[in-house]
Amino acid sequence: MSRPASQRAQHFLRRVVALVLFSSGGFGCSVTKHSPAVVEESAIEISVARELDASNGAVVCVEPEAARIGARVLADGGNAVDAAIATAFALAVTWPEAGNVGGGGFMLVRFQNGDAGFIDYREVAPSRASPTMFLRPDGSIDFEAIDHGWLGVGIPGTVAGLAMAHERYGSRPWTELVKPAAAIARRGFPISKALARSIASARPELAKNAESARIWLREDGTTREEGERVVLLDLANSLDAIAEGGARAFYEGVIAQKIVADSSAHGGLHTLEDFAKYEAVFREPLRGTYRGFDILAAPPPSSGGQILLSALNQLEALEDSSQLQLARMGTADELHLHAEALRRAFLERYRFLGDPDFVAVDIERVISKERGRELAVSIDPLRAALSRELAGDLDGTLRYESEHTTHFSVVDAMGNAVANTYTLEQSWGSKITAAGTGILMNDEMGDFNAKPGESTQTGRIGTSPNLAEPGKRMLSSMCPLIMTKDGELELVAGSPGGRTIPSTVLRVVTGIVDHGMSAREVLSVPRVHHALFPDVLRVENALVESEVELLRSRGHTIERVSKQGDAHVIVRESETLRAIADTRIDGAAATPRRE
Ligand code: DON
Repeated sequence: MSRPASQRAQHFLRRVVALVLFSSGGFGCSVTKHSPAVVEESAIEISVARELDASNGAVVCVEPEAARIGARVLADGGNAVDAAIATAFALAVTWPEAGNVGGGGFMLVRFQNGDAGFIDYREVAPSRASPTMFLRPDGSIDFEAIDHGWLGVGIPGTVAGLAMAHERYGSRPWTELVKPAAAIARRGFPISKALARSIASARPELAKNAESARIWLREDGTTREEGERVVLLDLANSLDAIAEGGARAFYEGVIAQKIVADSSAHGGLHTLEDFAKYEAVFREPLRGTYRGFDILAAPPPSSGGQILLSALNQLEALEDSSQLQLARMGTADELHLHAEALRRAFLERYRFLGDPDFVAVDIERVISKERGRELAVSIDPLRAALSRELAGDLDGTLRYESEHTTHFSVVDAMGNAVANTYTLEQSWGSKITAAGTGILMNDEMGDFNAKPGESTQTGRIGTSPNLAEPGKRMLSSMCPLIMTKDGELELVAGSPGGRTIPSTVLRVVTGIVDHGMSAREVLSVPRVHHALFPDVLRVENALVESEVELLRSRGHTIERVSKQGDAHVIVRESETLRAIADTRIDGAAATPRRE
């Protein structure tokens, strides 16, 4: 993926110039603003906007400075994976509620020549984990320990995953990709409106951890506000150590020692060996098709690709078998079918999916067209199924999940693409900052089924494939996706939102394939979500009441929500690619400006 040698000399000068500019530029300032004229002439400027032309390569994510850092890597000759790595580290500084080095996630990569790969850097359970580790002596689930204690913290995968991406595909030096994030953390930056909002909503839990409170709250415990400057020295030191020492600095050096020391002092199960043993896993992406489009999606231990492909297969089967024309349907009629397909796709997930290194699942069968047809047979276009009847003996219910993961999409000028979704699980993860590291720790262990065999209609699942075991990866819903047609890149997408993630991505894919929507339209249509349990159809407020009434009349119990997910996407429109940030949040796209 690296650029041809002929372009390297050209890029060398730009790179030197860019580094000078970067180190002199303030956070949030345009690079050229601080630069002498002679330098401006040879520097490639970075454009940042909600939506822009991506033909020259682009990064689109939840936070403008991280997008700008990724685009700067593209401008300096880096490829899409280089830019993704730099963006991921930058988001760990500028979007701390979900960007991370203390969490995990998935990176889906597709090269312009059609080769593809998937890097699984999901967290794993520590070696002292067990299926009943979340239960109190009386058998009840200790949610406080899962959500806000060290018991909820999985061994982080992000640094190993980004290092694997770099080793396999990177073309720029590793340090060059990590240092910009370290520099922002060291220099400090003004708290954005979105970050201020995020700190405020996590304040009660951040206050419970001395390190997190010291960093993110004022001395009197009140919330830091928009415009206040935050300097993250411990995090800068950790990132510098990672920049210099690579993944080993995190998993075998002083960082692991500090995390394990803090965990051990507070009832955690983590050991130094757990860190030293952690490995990202390279996997084959799931491959599917939908009405002539080719889809690459996340394999287990995510259920995201399975749910998406299973739902799409059912929709395709409905269209083929009963002459339903999705493109011509009314909104409620179509969303009813989405809900029914998702309901059945989630049932498949609960029954079969877990970490593929622990649980045997015939995933090719689960995502096959044949299985889609089998599931679609029971869909009534006019009537909602009852989840409890459909699920039969399934033992389970689901917990509420918030919206706080983050997805970014990247494409370079060659057409290589990266879809990356990573997370701390809840917003700000466990809210614990490991003492002396500046690193916020995940609470991903909460994605395991908390209580073996327990079933309730309100939402928890107790099926065995996803029970905690030493070294096991917890099941995810994250759904980074790349879609092509006739070998041409059509869509790079993904979203946060826990179990709503595949539902959000389904709406993006069907918007493009079934309705030929533009990037802007596809992000603005109201989204829905059904996860079998609870037997409720979640509907964004933007859906007009008359359509909601129609859904009710089909038998759905409706729950209104203000928003679902934020899907930062790159979409082909006519002959060009557009990068567009979801309007549900203040995201941004960035691109090297055309010469
Ligand atoms: O991996 C997952 O599916 C979840 N931990 C993602 C979490 C998320 O999107 C937002 N909030 N819980």
